[in-house]
Amino acid sequence: MERERFEPRIIGFFCNWCSYRAADGAGTARVKYAPNVRVIRLMCSGRVDPSFVLKALASGADGVLIAGCHPGECHYIEQNYKTMRRYAMLTQTLRALGISERRVRLVWASAAEGTQLAAAVDEMVEDLRLLGPLHWSANLREEDHEAAFEHILHEHEQAMEVTR
Ligand code: FES
Repeated sequence: MERERFEPRIIGFFCNWCSYRAADGAGTARVKYAPNVRVIRLMCSGRVDPSFVLKALASGADGVLIAGCHPGECHYIEQNYKTMRRYAMLTQTLRALGISERRVRLVWASAAEGTQLAAAVDEMVEDLRLLGPLHWSANLREEDHEAAFEHILHEHEQAMEVTR
């Protein structure tokens, strides 16, 4: 019997001005890419607190994709430089927790780069298939994963503002 293919769950934190529009553009242009990402729109990648990432992983995500405007093109001047610093620290924390840093990615995508963003999603999904499930929330039942994700999505509806 053929083994069922592992479908990783990914939470995507996409900035409103570039990456979210890139994802939208990819959809409009009918660019095909893996449907494994649940996207949370934030005003800026600088709004992604590392605790958001850890909470997503603890709630059942197998990976987290953070996407923002290219360095120098952030609509909030230099917030994505803050994202880069936070990401560097976050990868250290993940290593300390024994979690592969390949599970959390930071990519840049302008509004015109839907194809590139779609390729980054596909690449991450394939990589997570190789890594396998994270199992950080092994005690959660399937329906609890969905509830936890819905809770996260709702929680971030309140987090659209950018704090300096
Ligand atoms: S507005 Fe897109 S990363 Fe800041």
